[in-house]
Amino acid sequence: MKILLIGKNGQVGWELQRSLSTLGELVAVDYFDTELCGDLTNPEGIACTIRSVKPDVIVNAAAHTAVDKAESERELSQLLNADSVEVIAKEAAKLGALLVHYSTDYVFNGAGTHFRKEDEPTGPLNVYGETKLAGEIAVATNNPRHFIFRTSWVYATRGANFAKTMLRLAKEKKQLAIINDQYGAPTGAELLADCTAIAIRAAVNDVSLYGTYHLVASGETTWYDYAQYVFSVARELGEPLSVEEVKGVDTTAYPTPAKRPSNSRLSNLKFQTAFATVIPDWKVGVKRVVSEVLGK
Ligand SMILES: NC(=O)c1ccc[n+]([C@@H]2O[C@H](COP(=O)([O-])OP(=O)(O)OC[C@H]3O[C@@H](n4cnc5c(N)ncnc54)[C@H](OP(=O)(O)O)[C@@H]3O)[C@@H](O)[C@H]2O)c1
Repeated sequence: MKILLIGKNGQVGWELQRSLSTLGELVAVDYFDTELCGDLTNPEGIACTIRSVKPDVIVNAAAHTAVDKAESERELSQLLNADSVEVIAKEAAKLGALLVHYSTDYVFNGAGTHFRKEDEPTGPLNVYGETKLAGEIAVATNNPRHFIFRTSWVYATRGANFAKTMLRLAKEKKQLAIINDQYGAPTGAELLADCTAIAIRAAVNDVSLYGTYHLVASGETTWYDYAQYVFSVARELGEPLSVEEVKGVDTTAYPTPAKRPSNSRLSNLKFQTAFATVIPDWKVGVKRVVSEVLGK
């Protein structure tokens, strides 16, 4: 099996370099690569790359993920998250290749308190969510051989994310105020990469598995409880922290350019059932990454 990975240096892309390498021949690209174009602002270049590599599977881990910036960069966000994705999907279809693409909880409006299933109505609240939804539609419309994995609150040892920012702030500040009314599941890039490899392997023998899945860690939390858990793991590991007071606040206390959904709970039952996997509670992966980040 020949696999083309686009976006090899992102949080998820980096872990995919590891997990996909056991499936076959892996060609991994990023946008600054000189031999093969992996730049989503250059759809023609990406198309050329796909035509020259001729992969059996394309995994697209690249995206415009700056949620607040997207509000003032709609065109760029649309180009990276949707228009280029359409080109990738069309090229994949011409080759009969499987396309794996990642999407987000932000395609939903976040109403209610339940764990959303895959077929529930979408309704993005911000430009990032709108363009990611357009990307999903581009994939599903142009290539029936696809996996769309909607995930949430991604973290990793490599890259910038909430857990690492909180660790830094807890060393710098005595008081922190953290949002306590948005609910979701922090999901590790490692878990996403491992589950992606499981799904690709399974699809080799069963094409009925193609489709959209919610791929998130199990359980739920808020940003506030997530941060408190990060701090408690750090303390258990003997890391000195300056923070003394952590206050839970409403979303309204932190006005941001992009509106965020308050309920980002996604049900991962469809994935667990289809691929006979057990997806662990969010704390399992967070504990591991905090330990890795601290080198303890
Ligand atoms: N992060 C989250 O919390 C989250 C939540 C839900 C869904 N997702 C989805 O999960 C997937 C992976 O996200 P992630 O967390 O791994 O994001 P990430 O760490 O931001 O990685 C995205 C990658 O895309 C690259 N990129 C930016 N502009 C590009 C361009 N023009 N051409 C090619 N590559 C470009 C980035 O490079 P630079 O960093 O060098 O710019 C980065 O390596 C994305 O589809 C994202 O929408 C993420």
